[in-house]
Amino acid sequence: MKKYLLLSVFFAASLCLFSCKDDNLIEVVEVPLPTKDEKVLIGSPLDVKADPGSFDVLKLPYAYDALAPMIRSLTLEIHYSKHYLGYTNNLNKAVAGTAYENMPIEEMLYKLDLNDAALRNNAGGYYNHTLYWKSMSPKGKSEPVDTIAGSIKKDFGSYANFTTQFKNKSMKQYGSGWAWLVVDKAGKLQITTTDNQDNPLMKNALVPGLPIMVLDLWEHSYYLDYQYKKKNYVDAFFKIIDWDKVNENYKAALNKVKNKQF
Ligand SMILES: [Fe+2]
Repeated sequence: MKKYLLLSVFFAASLCLFSCKDDNLIEVVEVPLPTKDEKVLIGSPLDVKADPGSFDVLKLPYAYDALAPMIRSLTLEIHYSKHYLGYTNNLNKAVAGTAYENMPIEEMLYKLDLNDAALRNNAGGYYNHTLYWKSMSPKGKSEPVDTIAGSIKKDFGSYANFTTQFKNKSMKQYGSGWAWLVVDKAGKLQITTTDNQDNPLMKNALVPGLPIMVLDLWEHSYYLDYQYKKKNYVDAFFKIIDWDKVNENYKAALNKVKNKQF
């Protein structure tokens, strides 16, 4: 049984790495594959440290097994301690000694040259994953709360309409990318998707906005748990959304819009 588990991990990781690679981006984070004889041990997020630099990893606000069975511990550990850490370290290398070194990440994403593949990929990878960790919680509520609950009803008609639209957009994102809930310049909630590690703060955004919640749609986010059944992963995400945090992000974004900081 153990042998089959290790082989399935090896197979899934191989497939994920192959499918996630993008020839146009030179800084895609690759994770060493476990050999078929290698033991899979789950560590602690507290042991994950970024190399010295401007940016540090977000302290994961829950344990690796806290989101199971929606997202299981091996998936979360690899995602956080390998992929996310890789983007963080590569971002620190990319900004070292440049004008971006001490710039807030949001400002950097807005200003960066999209032809700078290393900066674009790693700044996006760092920011997007940081918001993804904060979008989920083992104490996630099944429906939105407080201010954002009313705004979702106003902007999408109902929570059911919102979930349908968010899930549909997620399923239509072919290849690696992200599904977002953002606040646009008019203060309205919008759903959008982006490719690779791009996000709605960048100059090329089809729907520019301040991100308040995000779902990672790269295969490394779900393949070990769901294989090709991406829809099950998208459905599971809706059981662990941290609506308290999303509501907090929403109110902060509205203030920025009102104060013309966006
Ligand atoms: Fe990811």
